[in-house]
Amino acid sequence: MQTLAQHLTSQAVNDSLSQLILTLADTSKAISHAVRHGALAGVLGATEQENVQGETQKKLDIITNDMLKDALKADGTVRGLASEEEDHVVEVSQNGQYLVCFDPLDGSSNIDINSLVGTIFSILPATKGPAPAGVLTETSFLQSGRAQLAAGYVLYGPSTMLALTTGQGVQLFTLHPETNEFLLTNAAMSISPDTQEFAINMSNQRFWEAPMQTYIADLLLGKIGPREKSFNMRWIAAMVGDVHRVLSRGGIFTYPTDNKDPKKPYKLRLMYEANPMAFLVEQAGGKASTGYETILDIQPTHIHQRVAVILGSSNEVDACLSYHGIDYSEEPNIE
Ligand code: AHG
Ligand code: MN
Ligand code: MN
Repeated sequence: MQTLAQHLTSQAVNDSLSQLILTLADTSKAISHAVRHGALAGVLGATEQENVQGETQKKLDIITNDMLKDALKADGTVRGLASEEEDHVVEVSQNGQYLVCFDPLDGSSNIDINSLVGTIFSILPATKGPAPAGVLTETSFLQSGRAQLAAGYVLYGPSTMLALTTGQGVQLFTLHPETNEFLLTNAAMSISPDTQEFAINMSNQRFWEAPMQTYIADLLLGKIGPREKSFNMRWIAAMVGDVHRVLSRGGIFTYPTDNKDPKKPYKLRLMYEANPMAFLVEQAGGKASTGYETILDIQPTHIHQRVAVILGSSNEVDACLSYHGIDYSEEPNIE
């Protein structure tokens, strides 16, 4: 089995990008270790701090953020970073070629129930923005998801897994518990175009827009409804877990627009949740949209910007989009 380093060489990924990906992978091994020790290491529970988005930070949100920040500072290839747990972008190395956006611990509400959590990352080129030379500002980060050079997630589950794309498909690596090496266990993850499984937080149903209300109502009607087939539902409450299931066996995952809090119509963050996952999903043959716009084509306006997300099996995403008045498929699969 190929190691991650051997795989990056075989894909002809350049040395500095390979080094950065290996740094992220090595840090995730340390995070996996911290997560696994749980209560034994006293890392569970919340702090009294809030992040810029008004969410109470868990101890592990801060620990994992610091681990990634320290590793990226030591790496030398990184110009700057943006994190869910950092109010502002962080300047790293003057000569770094890359910008890294990350969610250090996704699904952190799962941590205290010993359920799935993960790390999500996105790597962008450090292009020169309109800021004066030598000054790194948020503007440098505001590139569409199409500009991503690499993206991935690490899932801290029964086994620790890394899903990675450098724009050449999606590869899955499993962390060997004894050798502590990421080994290639799936060379080409592929999302089946059709599915009978959906993932949505049903408790928000009354707050969704009309198209999503109708789409989910039709799924629930099963064989007697317009879709003429039964659907199963899964919800892990960690995007990493739900997207991993979609990459593994197909499905549709959505966190749609809702009016529960009119000031916050979307939940997931574009730069370090939606974009990296959309890159992975497209590279595995699936689709990712907000309902009205392809996620990877969005021009970001803010590093902590939120978007609606509908992603997964291509025909099912098309079916969902057709309820939004958009028909991206030549042959909609709604009979
Ligand atoms: P985070 O823990 O990084 O803040 O992200 C949580 C996100 C995402 O992972 C998941 O899909 C969603 O929040 C879960 O939301 P609900 O609380 O509505 O289940
Ligand atoms: Mn998250
Ligand atoms: Mn998080």
